[in-house]
Amino acid sequence: MVTDLERTEAELLEAVQSPNEFLTEVASHLIIAGGKRIRPGFTMAAATAAMAEPTSVPTEVIMGGVSVELVHLGSLYHDDVMDDALTRRTVESVNARWGNLKAILAGDFLLARASEIAAALGTEVAGLLANTIAKLCEGQIRELQDVYNIDRSEKNYFASIEGKTAVLLATAARVGGIVAELPRDQIETLTVFGHRYGMAFQVVDDILDVVATSEQLGKPAGNDLVEGIYTLPVLHTLETPAGEQLRDILGAPLDEAQRDAAREIVRQGPGLEHALEVAKQFSDEAVAALAPLEGTPAHTSLGAAADHLITKVGEAAAIYR
Ligand code: IPE
Ligand code: IPE
Ligand code: MG
Ligand code: MG
Repeated sequence: MVTDLERTEAELLEAVQSPNEFLTEVASHLIIAGGKRIRPGFTMAAATAAMAEPTSVPTEVIMGGVSVELVHLGSLYHDDVMDDALTRRTVESVNARWGNLKAILAGDFLLARASEIAAALGTEVAGLLANTIAKLCEGQIRELQDVYNIDRSEKNYFASIEGKTAVLLATAARVGGIVAELPRDQIETLTVFGHRYGMAFQVVDDILDVVATSEQLGKPAGNDLVEGIYTLPVLHTLETPAGEQLRDILGAPLDEAQRDAAREIVRQGPGLEHALEVAKQFSDEAVAALAPLEGTPAHTSLGAAADHLITKVGEAAAIYR
C-alpha cells in the first residue's frame, strides 16, 4: 500500500514539473535531498483530529501538506541566499550549486506552485497561504534589520522567529483542519499548537547552531554567528557578565577561529540553559493547547512531535551542561 508520505513525495515532484527541464532540475534539488517533512506531517496529523483511528487521509489533505512544504522549500532557497549557506539537507545548497540568481528564481517558482495548489483547495486556504508568505517575509526582513547588532532585543528576536517560522507551522496544522472540514474550535486548537511548536522549533534550531556539528545538521553549524544573526542563546549570554568577551568578538563578520571562540563562550555561558528552558516552555504550551483533542490520533502524534523536539535538543546540548 502507498503510504501518505509516499503520496506526498510523489506530489512534491509532480508540482515542480516545468517545460523547462533545467528549472525542474533546480526546483527538485532539495526535494530529492530529503528533509524531515514536518510541515506536511502536521497537515496530515491535524486532519486525523476527527478520527478514532489513524487512517489514510483524503487527497485534498495531501495536497494541503504539499502546498505548505513548497512554501517552506521556497523559503529555504531564498534563506540560503540570504545566509550565504553552502549546504542544506546534507547536499550542496542551490545557491552554491547554481548561483544566487537561479536560486531566487527557483524559489519564486516553488512559491508560485504552492499558491496554485492552495488555490485549488479553496479561497480560505489560498488566502491563508498568501498571508503566511507575507508574514515569513516580515520575519526575515526583521532579522536582516538587526544583522550584526549586538544590542538586538529579545523582543525583536521573538517577533522575527514568529514570522519566519512559527506562522508557517501554525498554517501547516491549520490547513489540515480546514481541508478536513473540522469544527472551527478544533481548527483554532490546531493553529495554536502549530504556532507554539513553531516558536519552540526555531529556538531549538538556534540552539543547535551553537551546539551541533555541520555533519549532524546537514547544513553549516555556527553560521548564525558568522552571518551576524544573534539568536536567543547568544542574546541572553550578551546580557550577562559571561557576555563581555563575546561582545568583543561579535558585531562584524567572523573568521573560523572567532566563530569557534564565540560558540565556546555561548556553550559555557548561561544563555544555552536559558534558551533550552524557553524552548521547553513553548513546547509545553503547544502540548497544553492540544488538550481538547485528547483521545484522538492527532493528539498522540502532535504531542509526540513536541516531546521529540525537546528530547533531541536536550541530548545535543547535554555535553555542555
Ligand atoms: C529549517 O526547517 C528551517 C527552519 C525553520 C529552522 P527544517 O528543520 O524543518 O528543515 P527540513 O525541511 O527538515 O530540511
Ligand atoms: C529559518 O531560517 C526560516 C526560514 C527558512 C524562512 P534559518 O536561517 O534560521 O534556518 P536554517 O538554520 O538556515 O535552516
Ligand atoms: Mg539559514
Ligand atoms: Mg536565515
